[in-house]
Amino acid sequence: MNKHDAERVSGMLEALGAVHVPTLEEADIAVFMTCCVREAAEVRLFGQIASCKNVPVRTGSPLAQRIIAIGGCIGERDGDELLTRFPHVSVVFGTHSLASLPGMLKRCLSDRVRQSDTSDTADAFSTDLPTKREHAWAAWLPIMTGCDNFCSYCIVPYVRGRERSRTIEDVVTEAQRYVDAGVKEITLLGQNVNSFGRDRYGAPRFAELLQRIDATGIERLRFVTSHPKDLSDEVIAAFADLRSLMPALHLPFQSGSDRILQAMNRSYTRAHYLSLIAKLKQACPSLALSTDIIVGFPGETEEDFGATCEMVCQVGFSQAFTFIYSPRSGTPAAQMRDTLPREIVQERFDRLVALVQEEAYRFNRAAQGRTLAVLVEGVSKRDARVLAGKSPQNQTVHAALPDDLDIEQLIGTIVPVRIDETKTWYLSGEVMRG
Ligand code: 5AD
Ligand code: SF4
Repeated sequence: MNKHDAERVSGMLEALGAVHVPTLEEADIAVFMTCCVREAAEVRLFGQIASCKNVPVRTGSPLAQRIIAIGGCIGERDGDELLTRFPHVSVVFGTHSLASLPGMLKRCLSDRVRQSDTSDTADAFSTDLPTKREHAWAAWLPIMTGCDNFCSYCIVPYVRGRERSRTIEDVVTEAQRYVDAGVKEITLLGQNVNSFGRDRYGAPRFAELLQRIDATGIERLRFVTSHPKDLSDEVIAAFADLRSLMPALHLPFQSGSDRILQAMNRSYTRAHYLSLIAKLKQACPSLALSTDIIVGFPGETEEDFGATCEMVCQVGFSQAFTFIYSPRSGTPAAQMRDTLPREIVQERFDRLVALVQEEAYRFNRAAQGRTLAVLVEGVSKRDARVLAGKSPQNQTVHAALPDDLDIEQLIGTIVPVRIDETKTWYLSGEVMRG
């Protein structure tokens, strides 16, 4: 969601006449899009903001001082406080006030006034904001914002607000526009995409949205993120039925222990999660499953952690994002007493990471010798004759090109790649002639 918001910020700044530059040193305006899901991201941001003070504005800049703006979740949460804490920050905006950024920047340029706006504008999506997409062939498509789930550890419902869905017509029209413009892959975005439409009385739900977007003729369709309690049988069936829906699903389970799941307020059990996995694998045997896991939630015992490890092996994830529990002020979990010693959590975390890597390798190994349809995203950083792209299961693929093929012309197209080598984090092979 932040990446997409950043694309919209880029689009709005370009509409003001700004151009994108690769480094802070060259920039007259710097906009930080922020995340406060875990403390580490916050610490990094505050470090970066503080060090901006020591980076002088470029020679020849019309400004005596660089304009620094902070947006996103930390902007939403801290508002004016950021202006007090960082006298060299001029603009603060929140998750619902993206559209007010150009006006604030203009005022800042003309009168040097420092401002913050964390108001909630009526249109949560501001869909007519200009967007500068990072790639011509891929588009993020936000279908809803906010989250009503209030998992006990999570700050998102407080900084992104309640669930708000766009209308199905609005989303499908935008998808069709992308298809007509040559976009190959659309990724639907929302904190909780499975509850799309639930906040609009009588509105079509997520499975219907998937069907309608499939019918636009899009080549590849993906979505993030799903909550296990809301994953319906209709959405599971879509993996079998819809031509464009790629065989990859991100389904966070967070913990394999029912006791911890309850304390996390996740509203499902381990058995329910596993029953979803069984249905999904039946509907789509080639499905790649990825997940999020939190280690060291208050009160987690070795037995609870063992249940998490067992889940990892039982499901056979292609990828898992592992996080050390980070207390977030204002959430119920931050009040829980039985926090764990750092060393124990770190040791569990390291064990889990090793396990996840083994599973990722096992998943990738199954691709050995197969030919996969790879959407070419660019050129490998290490070798200009090697392309980098994604398989339907979202694996990173590197592939050597025959001499007569032009790599630049292949970017954004789908090519067959025969896989010769499999690693934990990527596959490599050779582009086959179509
Ligand atoms: N501590 C650690 N991980 C967290 N996540 C969300 N909140 C926290 C927290 N307080 C993780 C969850 C979620 C992912 C986006 O971030 O696993 O799925
Ligand atoms: Fe946070 Fe996701 Fe839970 Fe919503 S469903 S509260 S975004 S972890």
